[in-house]
Amino acid sequence: MCGIVGYAGRRECSPILFDALRRLEYRGYDSYGFATVDEDGIFVEKSTGRISESRAPSLPGTIGIGHSRWATHGGVTKENAHPHTDCSGNVAIVHNGIIENYQELRSALRERGHVFRSDTDSEIIAHLMEENLHLGFEEAAKRTLSLLEGRLAVVMIAKNHTNKLIGVRRGSPLILGVRESPEGKEYFLASDIPAFLEHTKQVMYLDDNEMVVINDGVRFHNLLTGEEVRKRLITIEWDAEQASKGEHPHFMIKEIMEQKDTLLRAINQPETEIMDVAERINRAHGTFFTGCGTAGRVCLAAEYLFSRIAGKHVNAVFSSEFPNYHHFLTDRTLLVPISQSGETADVLEAVAVAKARGVNVISLVNNIGSSLERASDKTFPINAGPEKAVASTKATTSQLALVTLLAYASAGRLREGKTLLLETASKVNDMLNPRYEERIRKLAEKIKDQKNIYIIGRSLNYPIALEAAIKIQEVSYIHAEGFAGGELKHGPIALIHDGVPCIVLAANDETKKDIISNAMEVKARGGYIIGVSPENNEVFDYWIRVPDAGNASPIVNIIPIQILAYHLAVLNGHDPDYPRNLSKSVTVK
Ligand code: M6R
Repeated sequence: MCGIVGYAGRRECSPILFDALRRLEYRGYDSYGFATVDEDGIFVEKSTGRISESRAPSLPGTIGIGHSRWATHGGVTKENAHPHTDCSGNVAIVHNGIIENYQELRSALRERGHVFRSDTDSEIIAHLMEENLHLGFEEAAKRTLSLLEGRLAVVMIAKNHTNKLIGVRRGSPLILGVRESPEGKEYFLASDIPAFLEHTKQVMYLDDNEMVVINDGVRFHNLLTGEEVRKRLITIEWDAEQASKGEHPHFMIKEIMEQKDTLLRAINQPETEIMDVAERINRAHGTFFTGCGTAGRVCLAAEYLFSRIAGKHVNAVFSSEFPNYHHFLTDRTLLVPISQSGETADVLEAVAVAKARGVNVISLVNNIGSSLERASDKTFPINAGPEKAVASTKATTSQLALVTLLAYASAGRLREGKTLLLETASKVNDMLNPRYEERIRKLAEKIKDQKNIYIIGRSLNYPIALEAAIKIQEVSYIHAEGFAGGELKHGPIALIHDGVPCIVLAANDETKKDIISNAMEVKARGGYIIGVSPENNEVFDYWIRVPDAGNASPIVNIIPIQILAYHLAVLNGHDPDYPRNLSKSVTVK
């Protein structure tokens, strides 16, 4: 939540900061702002609304910072937008995260005469810096950080320090990009790599409690020990093209279409690595899969997949609930967090709770260099490439492919699993064509004005019914709910009346007869039945064909729903990439 950027180099920084921030807009899109510094002081420009709908500021200077906001403390106003400055206007800061002790700190600062212009927790950083600036910019930053509790990443500039940019990371992401140019080195700080991908692929990752000082060169300090830290320059493999929309109108549809390739990248991982994770799962005394939202539904699918394929019990727990399971954790437990961003606060909290009890953590993560990767004992990459749309699509199917593969590996049948998934990837490749998309778009036209949509599935496809509901809700704002097919008659069937759409995920497995019976029950009460199935059935009013993929049916069944959700959003006039109230990385608990 919130994207922050910083630049220090020889070029005018305003257009560079603007472009970088536009690329981070998926992290927050309530409001935005910039600050730069030169010999004349600090210059600030901020605004509410979407940065992608505005123009680059024309602030002077070659050092500056920027911020794209997702409101936590304080409404969406220009005053609450970052950067924030102190009373004297000598310091400007941008912050991503939450300061947990801000109320005490703000009261104390007020008593000492500081005047606050915003309702944010972040503004206290600028005022604390003001009090400590007589110690020097770096010392002031160290002193200020030692007073703050909570997760944060901060980037700041100060008047009279026109060559200096300081960044600090504790719990929220911050990455340094370095570019060698004929005119000298340039430095980019950002919450996420796509911000500066067009300039450089050379990065240095900050770890928690580290500060970077950029001043014609770069130095890292550990804030806890005070020692200087040496960092390696790492070349990352993503390219700017992967992080752009290309010819597509939205990231969401681009990322849906990319599943032709991303599935293969998830499946084609070193077999020794897959076996290593599977063996750790087999050896553990209790394995918990954990994640939030869509990734949480993938964890639930893992529970079914391990049970069905490997005859093994693993537990799926939403990360926000995981701390309540701490009684079951020992040093023989294994935790498998699943996350696209690797920055989700609830997931990181689950890892912290587990680690405190000696639990081994192997995470499945998409975002390279993320906090989750750094907090885990081992990381298994999802390899979906940058996912920018808030609604997760390609990362979801890659996560599903990986957990399917792990279940087969755990059963000692890795080859069989790999063959199944490679066949499935090729079937997905055939599915994702313009005719297929058009058939689903026509369905979206038929149901776009509905107030409610229900989705039912059984076994492997019950978690997919839940995930389908998230997809439809978050981008189309239509109320959608997923149920286990057999649960309908215990209550929810009362919601069915004439014309209410009910999507039936009817895989070609042992649950087929029962789910078709459930569809009949809904139809008998007037429901409009949309079948997602390899074969048509007389109960379906509208049939979306999916390939028969055996135990990989969750992957092929969610794809048409992703396309449906996308078109429901577009037809209802919503931007599917930036759904209201949401952010791509949920870095608050
Ligand atoms: O980055 P993560 O995978 O940890 O994110 C978890 C959820 O916030 C995320 O899946 C969310 O539910 C998506 N918007 C769903 O499309």
